[in-house]
Amino acid sequence: SYMNWISEVDPHSPSMAQCVTKVELSISCENLIDKDVGSKSDPLCVLLQNVGGDQWAELDRTEKIKNCQKPEFSKKLLIDYYFEKVQKLKFGVYDIDNKSYDLNDDDYLGGVECTLGQIVSSKTLTRPLELKKGKPAGKGNITISAEEIKDTRVVSLDIEAQNLDKKDFLGKSDPFLELYKQSEGGKWQLVYRSEVIKNNLNPCWRKFSVPLQTFCGGDFNKPIKVHCTDYDSDGSHDLIGSFETNLSQLQKAGGSSLVEFECIHPGKKQKKKSYKNSGIVRIKSCKIETDYSFLDYIMGGCQINFTVGIDFTGSNGDPKSPDSLHYISPNGINEYLTAIWSVGNVIQDYDTDKLFPAFGFGAQVPPNWQVSHEFALNFNPNNPYCQGIQGIVDAYRQALPQLRLYGPTNFSPIINHVARFAAQSAQQGTATQYYVLLIITDGEITDLDQTRQAIVNASKLPMSVIIVGVGNADFKAMEFLDGDDGVLRSVTGEPAARDIVQFVPFRQFQKAPREALSQTVLAEVPKQLVSYYKMQGWAPVKLPGAKQE
Ligand SMILES: *[C@@H]1O[C@H](CO)[C@@H](O)[C@H](O)[C@H]1NC(C)=O
Ligand SMILES: *[C@@H]1O[C@H](CO)[C@@H](O)[C@H](O)[C@H]1NC(C)=O
Ligand SMILES: *[C@@H]1O[C@H](CO)[C@@H](O)[C@H](O)[C@H]1NC(C)=O
Ligand SMILES: *[C@@H]1O[C@H](CO)[C@@H](O)[C@H](O)[C@H]1NC(C)=O
Repeated sequence: SYMNWISEVDPHSPSMAQCVTKVELSISCENLIDKDVGSKSDPLCVLLQNVGGDQWAELDRTEKIKNCQKPEFSKKLLIDYYFEKVQKLKFGVYDIDNKSYDLNDDDYLGGVECTLGQIVSSKTLTRPLELKKGKPAGKGNITISAEEIKDTRVVSLDIEAQNLDKKDFLGKSDPFLELYKQSEGGKWQLVYRSEVIKNNLNPCWRKFSVPLQTFCGGDFNKPIKVHCTDYDSDGSHDLIGSFETNLSQLQKAGGSSLVEFECIHPGKKQKKKSYKNSGIVRIKSCKIETDYSFLDYIMGGCQINFTVGIDFTGSNGDPKSPDSLHYISPNGINEYLTAIWSVGNVIQDYDTDKLFPAFGFGAQVPPNWQVSHEFALNFNPNNPYCQGIQGIVDAYRQALPQLRLYGPTNFSPIINHVARFAAQSAQQGTATQYYVLLIITDGEITDLDQTRQAIVNASKLPMSVIIVGVGNADFKAMEFLDGDDGVLRSVTGEPAARDIVQFVPFRQFQKAPREALSQTVLAEVPKQLVSYYKMQGWAPVKLPGAKQE
Protein backbone atom coordinates (compact mmCIF):
# COMPACT_ATOMS: atom_id res chain seq x y z
CA SER A 1 0.00 0.00 0.00
CA TYR A 2 1.03 3.62 -0.10
CA MET A 3 3.27 4.88 2.61
CA ASN A 4 3.52 8.55 2.79
CA TRP A 5 6.34 9.41 5.12
CA ILE A 6 5.61 13.10 4.91
CA SER A 7 2.95 12.99 7.58
CA GLU A 8 5.61 11.72 9.96
CA VAL A 9 8.19 14.32 9.01
CA ASP A 10 6.03 17.05 10.46
CA PRO A 11 8.20 18.77 13.11
CA HIS A 12 5.41 18.25 15.64
CA SER A 13 5.64 14.53 15.17
CA PRO A 14 8.19 12.72 17.29
CA SER A 15 9.42 10.04 14.87
CA MET A 16 11.62 11.32 12.08
CA ALA A 17 11.81 14.97 12.87
CA GLN A 18 14.75 14.69 15.23
CA CYS A 19 17.40 13.93 12.67
CA VAL A 20 19.02 17.28 13.28
CA THR A 21 21.64 17.19 10.61
CA LYS A 22 24.22 15.19 8.73
CA VAL A 23 27.79 15.11 9.91
CA GLU A 24 30.80 14.24 7.84
CA LEU A 25 33.83 12.67 9.52
CA SER A 26 37.37 12.99 8.16
CA ILE A 27 39.77 10.28 9.24
CA SER A 28 43.54 10.14 9.40
CA CYS A 29 45.91 7.84 11.28
CA GLU A 30 49.54 7.83 12.31
CA ASN A 31 52.07 5.13 13.21
CA LEU A 32 49.90 2.21 12.16
CA ILE A 33 51.41 -1.13 13.04
CA ASP A 34 52.86 -3.11 10.13
CA LYS A 35 51.22 -6.40 9.27
CA ASP A 36 52.49 -7.06 5.79
CA VAL A 37 55.78 -8.85 5.39
CA GLY A 38 58.05 -6.95 3.04
CA SER A 39 55.77 -3.95 2.52
CA LYS A 40 53.69 -1.52 4.50
CA SER A 41 50.04 -2.06 5.45
CA ASP A 42 47.14 -1.20 3.13
CA PRO A 43 44.73 0.42 5.58
CA LEU A 44 41.08 1.37 5.38
CA CYS A 45 38.80 2.61 8.13
CA VAL A 46 35.30 1.27 8.82
CA LEU A 47 32.67 3.15 10.81
CA LEU A 48 30.21 1.09 12.85
CA GLN A 49 27.31 2.30 14.93
CA ASN A 50 25.86 0.46 17.91
CA VAL A 51 22.33 -0.68 17.13
CA GLY A 52 21.59 -2.02 20.60
CA GLY A 53 23.19 -4.62 22.84
CA ASP A 54 26.36 -5.95 21.26
CA GLN A 55 25.11 -5.35 17.72
CA TRP A 56 27.06 -3.06 15.45
CA ALA A 57 26.02 -2.06 11.95
CA GLU A 58 28.45 -0.75 9.39
CA LEU A 59 27.56 2.77 8.34
CA ASP A 60 30.33 3.67 5.98
CA ARG A 61 33.95 3.00 5.14
CA THR A 62 36.84 4.91 3.62
CA GLU A 63 38.83 3.94 0.57
CA LYS A 64 41.86 1.69 1.00
CA ILE A 65 45.27 3.32 0.76
CA LYS A 66 48.18 1.19 -0.40
CA ASN A 67 51.44 0.92 1.48
CA CYS A 68 50.81 3.58 4.04
CA GLN A 69 51.30 3.83 7.80
CA LYS A 70 50.11 7.42 7.97
CA PRO A 71 46.95 7.46 5.87
CA GLU A 72 44.80 10.51 5.31
CA PHE A 73 41.59 9.17 3.83
CA SER A 74 39.86 11.27 1.21
CA LYS A 75 36.47 9.55 1.44
CA LYS A 76 34.53 11.12 4.29
CA LEU A 77 32.28 9.03 6.52
CA LEU A 78 28.70 10.22 6.61
CA ILE A 79 26.44 9.92 9.64
CA ASP A 80 23.12 11.35 10.76
CA TYR A 81 23.42 13.23 13.98
CA TYR A 82 20.60 12.77 16.50
CA PHE A 83 20.77 15.09 19.42
CA GLU A 84 18.51 12.93 21.59
CA LYS A 85 20.39 9.67 21.12
CA VAL A 86 23.69 8.48 22.48
CA GLN A 87 25.23 7.33 19.22
CA LYS A 88 27.97 4.86 20.11
CA LEU A 89 30.51 4.55 17.31
CA LYS A 90 33.40 2.26 16.59
CA PHE A 91 36.17 3.08 14.13
CA GLY A 92 38.12 0.04 12.99
CA VAL A 93 41.29 0.23 10.91
CA TYR A 94 42.05 -2.85 8.84
CA ASP A 95 44.89 -3.93 6.64
CA ILE A 96 43.18 -5.10 3.48
CA ASP A 97 45.39 -7.59 1.68
CA ASN A 98 43.09 -8.80 -1.03
CA LYS A 99 39.87 -8.00 -2.81
CA SER A 100 37.66 -9.67 -0.20
CA TYR A 101 35.47 -7.22 1.68
CA ASP A 102 34.96 -9.65 4.53
CA LEU A 103 36.81 -7.95 7.33
CA ASN A 104 37.28 -11.16 9.28
CA ASP A 105 39.92 -12.22 6.74
CA ASP A 106 41.96 -9.17 7.24
CA ASP A 107 44.38 -7.91 9.78
CA TYR A 108 43.06 -5.58 12.42
CA LEU A 109 45.32 -2.58 12.95
CA GLY A 110 43.32 -1.23 15.86
CA GLY A 111 40.19 0.64 16.66
CA VAL A 112 38.60 3.15 18.93
CA GLU A 113 35.16 3.52 20.49
CA CYS A 114 33.57 6.85 21.23
CA THR A 115 30.27 8.67 20.84
CA LEU A 116 29.32 11.04 18.07
CA GLY A 117 28.58 13.61 20.77
CA GLN A 118 32.20 13.46 21.90
CA ILE A 119 33.41 14.00 18.35
CA VAL A 120 31.14 16.91 17.49
CA SER A 121 31.69 18.66 20.80
CA SER A 122 35.46 18.57 20.35
CA LYS A 123 35.38 18.94 16.53
CA THR A 124 38.71 17.09 16.27
CA LEU A 125 39.47 14.09 18.41
CA THR A 126 42.80 12.23 18.49
CA ARG A 127 42.88 8.90 20.31
CA PRO A 128 45.32 6.00 20.56
CA LEU A 129 44.25 2.93 18.60
CA GLU A 130 43.61 -0.22 20.62
CA LEU A 131 43.75 -3.84 19.50
CA LYS A 132 41.33 -4.62 22.32
CA LYS A 133 40.27 -2.86 25.50
CA GLY A 134 43.39 -1.66 27.30
CA LYS A 135 45.79 -3.09 24.70
CA PRO A 136 47.33 -0.30 22.59
CA ALA A 137 48.08 -0.90 18.92
CA GLY A 138 51.72 0.13 19.15
CA LYS A 139 52.01 3.88 18.87
CA GLY A 140 49.11 4.04 16.42
CA ASN A 141 46.56 6.77 16.73
CA ILE A 142 43.52 8.03 14.87
CA THR A 143 42.26 11.57 14.33
CA ILE A 144 38.59 12.10 13.63
CA SER A 145 37.25 15.51 12.72
CA ALA A 146 33.63 16.39 12.21
CA GLU A 147 31.98 18.88 9.97
CA GLU A 148 28.27 19.52 9.79
CA ILE A 149 26.73 19.34 6.37
CA LYS A 150 24.12 22.00 6.03
CA ASP A 151 24.45 22.34 2.33
CA THR A 152 23.30 19.77 -0.21
CA ARG A 153 25.13 21.35 -3.13
CA VAL A 154 27.92 19.41 -4.81
CA VAL A 155 30.76 20.56 -7.04
CA SER A 156 31.03 18.38 -10.17
CA LEU A 157 34.33 18.56 -11.98
CA ASP A 158 35.63 17.16 -15.24
CA ILE A 159 39.40 17.45 -15.54
CA GLU A 160 42.08 16.42 -18.03
CA ALA A 161 45.79 17.13 -18.46
CA GLN A 162 48.27 17.46 -21.29
CA ASN A 163 51.99 17.00 -21.74
CA LEU A 164 52.67 15.90 -18.19
CA ASP A 165 56.27 15.12 -17.30
CA LYS A 166 57.41 11.55 -17.72
CA LYS A 167 58.34 10.26 -14.28
CA ASP A 168 58.76 6.54 -14.72
CA PHE A 169 62.02 5.10 -15.93
CA LEU A 170 60.38 2.40 -18.01
CA GLY A 171 56.98 3.86 -18.85
CA LYS A 172 55.40 7.32 -19.00
CA SER A 173 53.67 8.46 -15.79
CA ASP A 174 50.70 7.08 -13.85
CA PRO A 175 49.04 10.36 -12.91
CA PHE A 176 46.35 11.03 -10.32
CA LEU A 177 44.96 14.26 -8.87
CA GLU A 178 44.57 15.41 -5.29
CA LEU A 179 42.56 18.49 -4.37
CA TYR A 180 43.17 20.26 -1.06
CA LYS A 181 41.38 23.13 0.62
CA GLN A 182 43.08 25.51 2.98
CA SER A 183 41.72 25.08 6.49
CA GLU A 184 41.56 27.75 9.17
CA GLY A 185 45.11 27.26 10.45
CA GLY A 186 46.49 27.46 6.90
CA LYS A 187 46.89 23.68 6.78
CA TRP A 188 45.97 21.96 3.49
CA GLN A 189 43.23 19.40 3.94
CA LEU A 190 42.61 16.70 1.34
CA VAL A 191 39.11 16.90 -0.19
CA TYR A 192 39.37 14.55 -3.16
CA ARG A 193 41.73 11.99 -4.63
CA SER A 194 41.14 10.75 -8.18
CA GLU A 195 41.77 7.35 -9.68
CA VAL A 196 45.19 6.59 -11.18
CA ILE A 197 45.45 6.58 -14.97
CA LYS A 198 48.20 4.23 -16.01
CA ASN A 199 51.00 5.11 -18.38
CA ASN A 200 49.50 8.28 -19.83
CA LEU A 201 50.86 11.81 -20.13
CA ASN A 202 47.52 13.18 -21.44
CA PRO A 203 45.08 11.70 -18.93
CA CYS A 204 41.37 12.41 -18.71
CA TRP A 205 40.04 11.58 -15.25
CA ARG A 206 36.57 10.33 -14.43
CA LYS A 207 34.07 13.09 -13.74
CA PHE A 208 33.58 13.45 -9.99
CA SER A 209 31.47 15.27 -7.43
CA VAL A 210 32.38 16.54 -3.98
CA PRO A 211 29.92 18.19 -1.57
CA LEU A 212 30.39 21.94 -1.73
CA GLN A 213 30.88 21.97 2.04
CA THR A 214 33.74 19.49 1.78
CA PHE A 215 35.22 21.19 -1.24
CA CYS A 216 35.56 24.68 0.17
CA GLY A 217 33.25 25.02 3.19
CA GLY A 218 30.88 26.92 0.91
CA ASP A 219 33.48 29.68 0.37
CA PHE A 220 34.00 30.21 -3.36
CA ASN A 221 37.21 32.17 -2.75
CA LYS A 222 38.83 29.65 -0.41
CA PRO A 223 42.26 28.67 -1.76
CA ILE A 224 42.27 25.25 -3.41
CA LYS A 225 45.52 23.46 -4.17
CA VAL A 226 45.72 20.77 -6.84
CA HIS A 227 48.50 18.19 -6.90
CA CYS A 228 49.14 16.09 -9.97
CA THR A 229 51.21 13.09 -8.91
CA ASP A 230 52.77 9.99 -10.46
CA TYR A 231 51.56 6.86 -8.68
CA ASP A 232 54.05 4.26 -7.46
CA SER A 233 52.85 0.92 -6.20
CA ASP A 234 55.38 0.92 -3.33
CA GLY A 235 53.87 4.14 -1.98
CA SER A 236 56.71 6.46 -3.04
CA HIS A 237 54.64 8.69 -5.29
CA ASP A 238 56.31 11.55 -7.20
CA LEU A 239 54.82 15.00 -7.52
CA ILE A 240 54.55 16.02 -11.19
CA GLY A 241 53.36 19.52 -10.44
CA SER A 242 50.79 21.60 -8.61
CA PHE A 243 48.85 24.84 -8.78
CA GLU A 244 46.50 26.91 -6.66
CA THR A 245 43.08 28.22 -7.52
CA ASN A 246 39.61 28.69 -6.02
CA LEU A 247 36.07 27.73 -6.90
CA SER A 248 35.11 31.06 -8.47
CA GLN A 249 37.98 30.62 -10.89
CA LEU A 250 37.16 26.98 -11.63
CA GLN A 251 33.52 27.83 -12.24
CA LYS A 252 34.41 29.84 -15.33
CA ALA A 253 35.11 26.55 -17.11
CA GLY A 254 32.57 25.17 -19.52
CA GLY A 255 31.26 25.88 -22.98
CA SER A 256 33.90 27.65 -25.05
CA SER A 257 35.77 29.14 -22.11
CA LEU A 258 38.82 27.15 -21.17
CA VAL A 259 40.24 27.22 -17.68
CA GLU A 260 43.80 25.94 -17.78
CA PHE A 261 46.57 25.79 -15.24
CA GLU A 262 50.27 25.22 -15.57
CA CYS A 263 51.41 22.38 -13.36
CA ILE A 264 54.52 23.60 -11.60
CA HIS A 265 57.12 21.45 -9.88
CA PRO A 266 58.76 23.77 -7.31
CA GLY A 267 62.09 21.91 -7.25
CA LYS A 268 62.45 21.85 -11.02
CA LYS A 269 61.45 25.50 -11.28
CA GLN A 270 64.19 26.45 -8.84
CA LYS A 271 66.85 24.37 -10.54
CA LYS A 272 66.32 25.35 -14.16
CA LYS A 273 66.08 28.86 -15.60
CA SER A 274 64.44 27.59 -18.80
CA TYR A 275 61.78 25.59 -16.92
CA LYS A 276 58.26 26.38 -18.12
CA ASN A 277 55.94 23.82 -16.59
CA SER A 278 55.40 20.10 -16.04
CA GLY A 279 52.22 19.97 -18.06
CA ILE A 280 48.83 21.67 -18.38
CA VAL A 281 45.73 20.79 -16.36
CA ARG A 282 42.50 21.74 -18.04
CA ILE A 283 39.12 22.07 -16.31
CA LYS A 284 36.62 20.82 -18.90
CA SER A 285 33.63 21.67 -16.79
CA CYS A 286 32.81 22.73 -13.25
CA LYS A 287 29.20 22.82 -12.14
CA ILE A 288 27.45 23.39 -8.84
CA GLU A 289 24.59 20.92 -8.53
CA THR A 290 22.15 20.01 -5.78
CA ASP A 291 22.21 16.61 -4.15
CA TYR A 292 18.81 15.83 -2.72
CA SER A 293 18.38 13.91 0.51
CA PHE A 294 15.94 11.18 1.41
CA LEU A 295 13.89 13.72 3.31
CA ASP A 296 13.89 16.04 0.31
CA TYR A 297 12.22 13.27 -1.73
CA ILE A 298 9.84 12.26 1.03
CA MET A 299 8.91 15.84 1.73
CA GLY A 300 8.70 16.33 -2.00
CA GLY A 301 5.77 13.91 -2.12
CA CYS A 302 7.43 10.56 -2.82
CA GLN A 303 5.37 7.65 -1.52
CA ILE A 304 6.57 4.22 -0.54
CA ASN A 305 4.75 1.06 -1.50
CA PHE A 306 5.56 -1.65 1.06
CA THR A 307 4.97 -5.33 0.21
CA VAL A 308 5.56 -8.42 2.37
CA GLY A 309 6.51 -11.90 1.07
CA ILE A 310 6.50 -14.98 3.33
CA ASP A 311 8.29 -18.27 2.74
CA PHE A 312 6.01 -21.35 3.07
CA THR A 313 8.43 -23.98 1.81
CA GLY A 314 8.71 -27.45 3.32
CA SER A 315 12.19 -26.82 4.74
CA ASN A 316 10.50 -24.76 7.45
CA GLY A 317 9.10 -27.99 8.88
CA ASP A 318 5.51 -29.04 9.59
CA PRO A 319 3.77 -26.05 11.25
CA LYS A 320 2.09 -28.44 13.68
CA SER A 321 5.47 -29.60 14.99
CA PRO A 322 7.23 -27.47 17.64
CA ASP A 323 10.47 -27.81 15.58
CA SER A 324 8.93 -25.92 12.67
CA LEU A 325 9.84 -22.28 12.03
CA HIS A 326 6.12 -21.78 11.32
CA TYR A 327 5.06 -23.40 14.60
CA ILE A 328 3.07 -20.88 16.58
CA SER A 329 4.01 -21.27 20.22
CA PRO A 330 1.36 -21.29 22.95
CA ASN A 331 2.05 -17.60 23.54
CA GLY A 332 1.17 -16.94 19.89
CA ILE A 333 4.51 -16.17 18.28
CA ASN A 334 7.23 -17.56 16.03
CA GLU A 335 10.20 -16.00 14.21
CA TYR A 336 8.09 -15.05 11.17
CA LEU A 337 5.57 -13.21 13.31
CA THR A 338 8.26 -11.53 15.37
CA ALA A 339 9.99 -10.32 12.20
CA ILE A 340 6.70 -9.05 10.74
CA TRP A 341 5.89 -7.26 13.98
CA SER A 342 9.23 -5.63 14.56
CA VAL A 343 9.74 -4.39 11.00
CA GLY A 344 6.06 -3.65 10.48
CA ASN A 345 5.81 -1.60 13.64
CA VAL A 346 8.32 0.87 12.26
CA ILE A 347 6.94 0.82 8.73
CA GLN A 348 3.30 1.27 9.65
CA ASP A 349 4.06 4.58 11.34
CA TYR A 350 4.94 5.96 7.92
CA ASP A 351 1.90 4.62 6.14
CA THR A 352 -1.18 6.76 5.77
CA ASP A 353 -3.75 4.10 4.85
CA LYS A 354 -1.95 1.17 6.53
CA LEU A 355 -2.91 -1.25 3.75
CA PHE A 356 -0.12 -3.72 2.97
CA PRO A 357 -0.16 -6.23 0.10
CA ALA A 358 1.09 -9.54 1.57
CA PHE A 359 2.09 -12.64 -0.41
CA GLY A 360 3.24 -16.15 0.29
CA PHE A 361 5.46 -18.44 -1.78
CA GLY A 362 6.57 -22.05 -1.99
CA ALA A 363 3.33 -23.73 -0.85
CA GLN A 364 0.55 -25.78 -2.44
CA VAL A 365 -2.48 -23.56 -2.37
CA PRO A 366 -6.17 -24.48 -2.23
CA PRO A 367 -8.45 -25.18 -3.97
CA ASN A 368 -6.38 -26.96 -6.70
CA TRP A 369 -3.15 -27.48 -4.70
CA GLN A 370 -0.85 -26.09 -7.36
CA VAL A 371 2.49 -24.90 -6.03
CA SER A 372 2.47 -21.13 -6.08
CA HIS A 373 5.40 -18.71 -5.76
CA GLU A 374 3.26 -15.60 -5.44
CA PHE A 375 -0.15 -16.05 -3.81
CA ALA A 376 -2.07 -13.43 -1.86
CA LEU A 377 -1.90 -14.30 1.82
CA ASN A 378 -5.63 -13.60 2.11
CA PHE A 379 -6.27 -15.75 -1.01
CA ASN A 380 -7.75 -12.73 -2.78
CA PRO A 381 -5.47 -11.93 -5.77
CA ASN A 382 -7.58 -8.90 -6.72
CA ASN A 383 -7.26 -7.37 -3.29
CA PRO A 384 -4.13 -8.68 -1.56
CA TYR A 385 -4.11 -5.83 0.97
CA CYS A 386 -4.07 -6.49 4.69
CA GLN A 387 -5.28 -3.91 7.17
CA GLY A 388 -2.24 -2.91 9.19
CA ILE A 389 0.35 -5.23 10.65
CA GLN A 390 -2.37 -6.96 12.61
CA GLY A 391 -4.05 -7.65 9.25
CA ILE A 392 -0.90 -9.39 7.95
CA VAL A 393 -0.62 -11.39 11.17
CA ASP A 394 -4.29 -12.43 10.99
CA ALA A 395 -4.00 -13.38 7.32
CA TYR A 396 -0.86 -15.40 8.11
CA ARG A 397 -2.54 -17.27 10.97
CA GLN A 398 -5.59 -18.01 8.83
CA ALA A 399 -3.59 -19.10 5.80
CA LEU A 400 -1.17 -21.39 7.64
CA PRO A 401 -3.52 -24.34 8.36
CA GLN A 402 -4.89 -24.14 4.80
CA LEU A 403 -1.51 -24.46 3.05
CA ARG A 404 0.66 -27.44 2.28
CA LEU A 405 4.25 -26.36 2.76
CA TYR A 406 6.15 -27.42 -0.31
CA GLY A 407 8.94 -26.00 -2.46
CA PRO A 408 11.19 -25.06 -4.07
CA THR A 409 12.23 -21.71 -2.52
CA ASN A 410 11.91 -19.36 -5.44
CA PHE A 411 12.40 -15.67 -4.84
CA SER A 412 12.35 -14.42 -8.41
CA PRO A 413 8.55 -14.61 -8.96
CA ILE A 414 7.73 -12.29 -6.06
CA ILE A 415 10.61 -9.93 -6.85
CA ASN A 416 9.47 -9.77 -10.48
CA HIS A 417 5.88 -9.27 -9.31
CA VAL A 418 6.75 -6.12 -7.37
CA ALA A 419 9.17 -5.07 -10.14
CA ARG A 420 6.29 -4.99 -12.64
CA PHE A 421 4.54 -2.37 -10.52
CA ALA A 422 7.78 -0.47 -10.00
CA ALA A 423 8.44 -0.49 -13.77
CA GLN A 424 4.97 0.88 -14.47
CA SER A 425 5.39 3.67 -11.98
CA ALA A 426 8.90 4.51 -13.26
CA GLN A 427 7.39 5.24 -16.67
CA GLN A 428 5.90 8.39 -15.18
CA GLY A 429 9.45 9.72 -14.95
CA THR A 430 8.93 11.41 -11.59
CA ALA A 431 10.01 10.72 -8.01
CA THR A 432 6.54 9.75 -6.82
CA GLN A 433 6.59 6.03 -5.92
CA TYR A 434 9.27 3.83 -4.39
CA TYR A 435 8.75 0.10 -3.72
CA VAL A 436 10.09 -1.83 -0.74
CA LEU A 437 9.69 -5.61 -0.68
CA LEU A 438 10.27 -7.44 2.63
CA ILE A 439 10.93 -11.18 2.16
CA ILE A 440 11.03 -13.38 5.26
CA THR A 441 12.56 -16.76 4.54
CA ASP A 442 14.32 -19.76 6.05
CA GLY A 443 17.01 -19.25 3.50
CA GLU A 444 17.48 -22.31 1.34
CA ILE A 445 17.10 -20.44 -1.92
CA THR A 446 16.58 -22.59 -5.03
CA ASP A 447 16.41 -20.20 -7.98
CA LEU A 448 19.59 -18.29 -7.25
CA ASP A 449 20.35 -17.55 -10.90
CA GLN A 450 16.86 -16.25 -11.68
CA THR A 451 16.89 -14.25 -8.46
CA ARG A 452 20.20 -12.67 -9.39
CA GLN A 453 18.71 -11.68 -12.74
CA ALA A 454 15.54 -10.38 -11.07
CA ILE A 455 17.62 -8.23 -8.69
CA VAL A 456 19.84 -6.93 -11.48
CA ASN A 457 16.66 -5.97 -13.39
CA ALA A 458 15.09 -4.42 -10.29
CA SER A 459 18.23 -2.38 -9.61
CA LYS A 460 17.18 -0.22 -12.57
CA LEU A 461 13.78 0.38 -10.95
CA PRO A 462 12.56 2.41 -7.95
CA MET A 463 12.75 -0.60 -5.66
CA SER A 464 14.56 -2.11 -2.66
CA VAL A 465 14.47 -5.68 -1.35
CA ILE A 466 14.88 -6.49 2.34
CA ILE A 467 15.47 -10.12 3.24
CA VAL A 468 15.12 -11.35 6.81
CA GLY A 469 16.51 -14.86 7.27
CA VAL A 470 14.85 -16.90 10.03
CA GLY A 471 16.11 -20.19 11.45
CA ASN A 472 19.62 -21.59 11.45
CA ALA A 473 20.13 -22.25 7.75
CA ASP A 474 23.28 -21.39 5.86
CA PHE A 475 22.68 -17.89 4.60
CA LYS A 476 25.78 -17.66 2.36
CA ALA A 477 23.65 -17.26 -0.75
CA MET A 478 21.81 -14.32 0.80
CA GLU A 479 24.97 -12.53 1.76
CA PHE A 480 25.98 -13.00 -1.81
CA LEU A 481 22.83 -11.18 -2.96
CA ASP A 482 23.44 -8.31 -0.58
CA GLY A 483 25.64 -6.22 -2.85
CA ASP A 484 27.63 -4.84 0.09
CA ASP A 485 30.33 -7.41 -0.68
CA GLY A 486 31.03 -5.97 -4.09
CA VAL A 487 28.77 -5.76 -7.10
CA LEU A 488 26.07 -8.36 -7.67
CA ARG A 489 26.02 -9.73 -11.21
CA SER A 490 23.53 -11.76 -13.17
CA VAL A 491 24.59 -15.12 -14.59
CA THR A 492 25.36 -13.40 -17.87
CA GLY A 493 27.68 -11.01 -16.05
CA GLU A 494 25.44 -7.96 -16.16
CA PRO A 495 26.19 -5.87 -13.06
CA ALA A 496 23.46 -4.44 -10.81
CA ALA A 497 23.00 -0.73 -11.41
CA ARG A 498 23.10 -0.18 -7.63
CA ASP A 499 22.89 -2.07 -4.35
CA ILE A 500 19.20 -2.73 -3.60
CA VAL A 501 19.25 -5.76 -1.30
CA GLN A 502 19.66 -5.69 2.44
CA PHE A 503 19.98 -9.06 4.15
CA VAL A 504 19.65 -9.54 7.90
CA PRO A 505 19.76 -12.86 9.78
CA PHE A 506 17.04 -12.80 12.44
CA ARG A 507 18.94 -14.94 14.95
CA GLN A 508 21.65 -12.31 15.38
CA PHE A 509 19.02 -10.00 16.78
CA GLN A 510 17.26 -12.37 19.12
CA LYS A 511 18.86 -10.95 22.22
CA ALA A 512 19.07 -7.39 20.96
CA PRO A 513 16.43 -4.80 21.81
CA ARG A 514 13.35 -4.89 19.65
CA GLU A 515 14.27 -1.78 17.65
CA ALA A 516 17.60 -3.28 16.59
CA LEU A 517 16.24 -5.58 13.88
CA SER A 518 14.00 -3.00 12.26
CA GLN A 519 16.63 -0.27 12.45
CA THR A 520 19.17 -2.47 10.71
CA VAL A 521 16.67 -3.78 8.18
CA LEU A 522 15.52 -0.32 7.24
CA ALA A 523 18.92 1.36 7.47
CA GLU A 524 19.75 1.21 3.79
CA VAL A 525 16.38 2.14 2.34
CA PRO A 526 16.92 5.92 2.41
CA LYS A 527 20.30 5.61 0.68
CA GLN A 528 18.88 3.23 -1.91
CA LEU A 529 15.95 5.50 -2.68
CA VAL A 530 18.23 8.49 -3.14
CA SER A 531 20.66 6.49 -5.29
CA TYR A 532 17.83 5.54 -7.64
CA TYR A 533 16.53 9.05 -8.15
CA LYS A 534 20.04 10.41 -8.46
CA MET A 535 20.85 7.82 -11.13
CA GLN A 536 17.71 8.92 -13.01
CA GLY A 537 18.47 12.60 -12.47
CA TRP A 538 14.99 13.16 -11.00
CA ALA A 539 14.56 15.97 -8.51
CA PRO A 540 11.90 15.77 -5.80
CA VAL A 541 8.46 16.48 -7.24
CA LYS A 542 8.07 19.45 -4.94
CA LEU A 543 11.30 21.17 -4.20
CA PRO A 544 12.56 21.41 -0.61
CA GLY A 545 10.80 24.04 1.38
CA ALA A 546 7.44 23.41 -0.22
CA LYS A 547 5.46 21.41 2.34
CA GLN A 548 2.71 19.01 1.46
CA GLU A 549 -0.64 19.48 3.12
C1 LIG B 1 41.63 -13.06 1.20
O1 LIG B 1 42.61 -13.64 2.05
C2 LIG B 1 42.09 -14.57 2.98
C3 LIG B 1 43.22 -15.07 3.84
O2 LIG B 1 44.03 -14.02 4.26
C4 LIG B 1 41.42 -15.73 2.27
O3 LIG B 1 40.83 -16.61 3.21
C5 LIG B 1 40.34 -15.19 1.35
O4 LIG B 1 39.78 -16.24 0.60
C6 LIG B 1 40.94 -14.15 0.41
N1 LIG B 1 39.89 -13.58 -0.42
C7 LIG B 1 40.03 -13.36 -1.74
C8 LIG B 1 38.85 -12.78 -2.44
O5 LIG B 1 41.07 -13.62 -2.33
C1 LIG C 1 41.18 32.80 -7.42
O1 LIG C 1 42.18 32.14 -8.15
C2 LIG C 1 42.70 32.85 -9.26
C3 LIG C 1 43.74 31.99 -9.91
O2 LIG C 1 43.40 30.70 -10.00
C4 LIG C 1 43.29 34.18 -8.81
O3 LIG C 1 43.64 34.92 -9.96
C5 LIG C 1 42.28 34.95 -8.00
O4 LIG C 1 42.89 36.12 -7.47
C6 LIG C 1 41.75 34.09 -6.85
N1 LIG C 1 40.74 34.82 -6.12
C7 LIG C 1 40.82 35.04 -4.82
C8 LIG C 1 39.70 35.78 -4.20
O5 LIG C 1 41.77 34.64 -4.16
C1 LIG D 1 1.98 -1.71 -4.55
O1 LIG D 1 2.63 -2.92 -4.93
C2 LIG D 1 1.78 -4.07 -4.93
C3 LIG D 1 2.61 -5.22 -5.41
O2 LIG D 1 3.65 -5.46 -4.57
C4 LIG D 1 0.58 -3.88 -5.82
O3 LIG D 1 -0.31 -4.98 -5.66
C5 LIG D 1 -0.13 -2.58 -5.51
O4 LIG D 1 -1.14 -2.34 -6.43
C6 LIG D 1 0.88 -1.43 -5.53
N1 LIG D 1 0.23 -0.19 -5.23
C7 LIG D 1 0.44 0.88 -5.99
C8 LIG D 1 -0.33 2.09 -5.59
O5 LIG D 1 1.21 0.89 -6.93
C1 LIG E 1 15.50 -8.77 -17.11
O1 LIG E 1 16.16 -7.97 -18.08
C2 LIG E 1 16.56 -8.67 -19.25
C3 LIG E 1 17.28 -7.70 -20.14
O2 LIG E 1 18.30 -7.04 -19.44
C4 LIG E 1 15.34 -9.25 -19.96
O3 LIG E 1 15.76 -10.03 -21.05
C5 LIG E 1 14.54 -10.12 -18.99
O4 LIG E 1 13.33 -10.51 -19.59
C6 LIG E 1 14.22 -9.35 -17.72
N1 LIG E 1 13.57 -10.24 -16.79
C7 LIG E 1 12.42 -9.93 -16.23
C8 LIG E 1 11.86 -10.96 -15.34
O5 LIG E 1 11.85 -8.88 -16.43
